[in-house]
Amino acid sequence: MKSTIRDISLAPLGQSKIDWVAPRMQVLNIVRQEFEKTQPFAGKNVVICLHLEAKTAYLAHVVRAGGANVTVVASNPLSTQDDVVAALVQQGIQAHAWYNATDEEYKHHLQLALDTEPDFIIDDGGDLVSTIHTTRPELLKKVKGGAEETTTGVLRLHSMAKDGVLKFPMIAVNDAQCKYLFDNRYGTGQSVWDGIMRTTNLVVAGKTAVIAGYGWCGKGVAMRAKGLGAKVIICEINPIKANEALMDGFEVMPMVEAAKFGDFFITVTGNTNIINKEHFGHMKSGAILCNAGHFDVEVNVAQLKEIALSERTARNNITEYTLPTGQKLYVLAEGRLVNLAAGDGHPAEVMDMTFALQALSLEYVAVNHHKLSPGVYQVNSEIDEKVAQLKLQSLGLSIDTLTQEQRTYLASWSPEAD
Ligand SMILES: NC(=O)c1ccc[n+]([C@@H]2O[C@H](COP(=O)([O-])OP(=O)(O)OC[C@H]3O[C@@H](n4cnc5c(N)ncnc54)[C@H](O)[C@@H]3O)[C@@H](O)[C@H]2O)c1
Repeated sequence: MKSTIRDISLAPLGQSKIDWVAPRMQVLNIVRQEFEKTQPFAGKNVVICLHLEAKTAYLAHVVRAGGANVTVVASNPLSTQDDVVAALVQQGIQAHAWYNATDEEYKHHLQLALDTEPDFIIDDGGDLVSTIHTTRPELLKKVKGGAEETTTGVLRLHSMAKDGVLKFPMIAVNDAQCKYLFDNRYGTGQSVWDGIMRTTNLVVAGKTAVIAGYGWCGKGVAMRAKGLGAKVIICEINPIKANEALMDGFEVMPMVEAAKFGDFFITVTGNTNIINKEHFGHMKSGAILCNAGHFDVEVNVAQLKEIALSERTARNNITEYTLPTGQKLYVLAEGRLVNLAAGDGHPAEVMDMTFALQALSLEYVAVNHHKLSPGVYQVNSEIDEKVAQLKLQSLGLSIDTLTQEQRTYLASWSPEAD
């Protein structure tokens, strides 16, 4: 089937982006070599629904090296890089996506990808899984399973499983230790500030960053804000996370109070309506608002539009809203994931681990789907450890191993063992 992309002539630029990341994803390269021999997806159709940038493109190549017919489709309309997608198509991988697709186009692209009748899928945020279940029930017998990339998608899968509607097995890649400890924390921590800084070209040191959500992503964003010299305020709803933030040296308060102090506001809760009309009026003129959570529902841009007297594009990816009070508030990337919609996403070395988990989890589903009933599964602990080991190996590092004496000591319970 023909691909649906913007401009094939962009392929050389996209290819150079893929060529830059590929040698820096060394765990994935080891997986690729294994797949070339074992061909776990021989003759199978795989649809990959992720942010379509260079690291994802390389994952698509690795899955294809395992024998699959791969189709890629966007998990977010603003993170698609048209040059990268063009490069994939030129290399014979089918793609249905373009940057800034309308809601209608985005949904249509998902349908076109599903026309390939996938055996296996990789999803990010749950749109592909929910589209299959709600609009393409005839595919439910064909899809044997897949893997989900992010916190929000895993939450949606659990809701589907709880309601008894999830019809195939999905691996919660997000919940593997080699995912959230590195991707959510260090990846989001670095790439969110990269996105904000390259978009605004403003200083962070000495300013106040208000971060909503102190989960794995929020911790990374806060840690890097501190490193850049910002004062950090955390907004949370979970008292344990709030105590953790306090002990990590941050101020903690509700958003309605924090609104007065922030120069930068970053939402990363996976929840909805975190910054809204209750808060805008309290903010300093010049405040910058952005989101790093999966969906564009955390900063209530619709309400900001309603109360603003005017709006204009202040700079690429920055919308200025002027309120009746004269305050000017700036929203980055329309409130979509700032690190992907106004940046290149996580560093290649971080996505190396995430996408190695994705590739190995998909192989696990391909080999074991006969034994897996519909539901949400954790990443097999052997896969998690394998990725960690391969990462150390690729960095030329080794670690200690337990001696037999230590093993016996750890397994003993009698007082004589002390
Ligand atoms: N930008 C990226 O590249 C990227 C990467 C990974 C995950 N994500 C997305 O980021 C979001 C967060 O992921 P995570 O792994 O940190 O999740 P998490 O569950 O570890 O953390 C979310 C935190 O938000 C808090 N929270 C919920 N509602 C809140 C509210 N109303 N106010 C303040 N805090 C609230 C929760 O208590 C929790 O501590 C998800 O949508 C996830 O899919 C984005």
